[in-house]
Amino acid sequence: MMDFPPELINFLKKATRVAVLTGAGVSQESGLRTFRDAQAGLWAQYRPEDLATPTAFARAPKLVWDWYAHRRESAKGAQPNPGHYALAEMEKMIPEFALITQNVDGLHRMAGSKNILELHGNILNVRCSECGTFAETWVDDLEFVPRCKKCNGLLRPDVVWFEESLPRVQLDAAINATRTCQVFFSIGTSGVVHPAAALAHAAKAEGAVVVEINAEPTPLTTKVDFAFHGKSGEILPELVKAVWG
Ligand code: OAD
Repeated sequence: MMDFPPELINFLKKATRVAVLTGAGVSQESGLRTFRDAQAGLWAQYRPEDLATPTAFARAPKLVWDWYAHRRESAKGAQPNPGHYALAEMEKMIPEFALITQNVDGLHRMAGSKNILELHGNILNVRCSECGTFAETWVDDLEFVPRCKKCNGLLRPDVVWFEESLPRVQLDAAINATRTCQVFFSIGTSGVVHPAAALAHAAKAEGAVVVEINAEPTPLTTKVDFAFHGKSGEILPELVKAVWG
């Protein structure tokens, strides 16, 4: 059992407004690769930064489509882990709770979290790259990217790529939750991709208690009030138990 500082336990017991930012590390224990881990097999030769861009899609649409199809299949086969469930439990204890996520795998929703702000979209959804219409079904082809039934544009995953802006409504809600929260968690994120990475700094500047839970130290570690290094799927359930158990 982990020893959590009593001040943190007390802050959380009294907290009525909590914001949580999660990244790929939270899904690592569900068997999904993080972004900055080496890619596996066929995809090892590419860097995600070279596949997750509109430029890459314009140059090699089928390559980008296939990479996402591969990741969509992994996400579909994945189950939430104890870290996801602990966050869903935490939400039940806190009157104003926002779960801001950079993850596109949909696992927080599957674990029962309700107030989720998906900053980078959702890989399970597909939309037209031209007219934006969502596609419920499409036919996969060995050679070509499937096309929109309405306008014949190429279909793409409903995720935010590098060089693209984040969805305004979600980002505004995330900024608002960050500004007003009493405790802010940064969990399983390397804290290098903006604007998500800036949220923890903003929370700190507004006077929130900032807590990091990550497998390893990050650029944020020296700035936070409490840092725990280890697996979020182990630390989060213990924390929830220590505070509300
Ligand atoms: P990263 O892959 O950059 O960072 C994942 C972090 O999780 C690393 O610091 C790991 O040490 C940590 N980690 C790994 N396993 C963990 C575990 N079991 N428990 C806790 N921590 C663990 O992923 P993100 O920070 O999510 O954006 O990446 C941010 C964004 O960059 C992504 O959303 C994506 C990417 O490019 C877009 O696609 C727009």
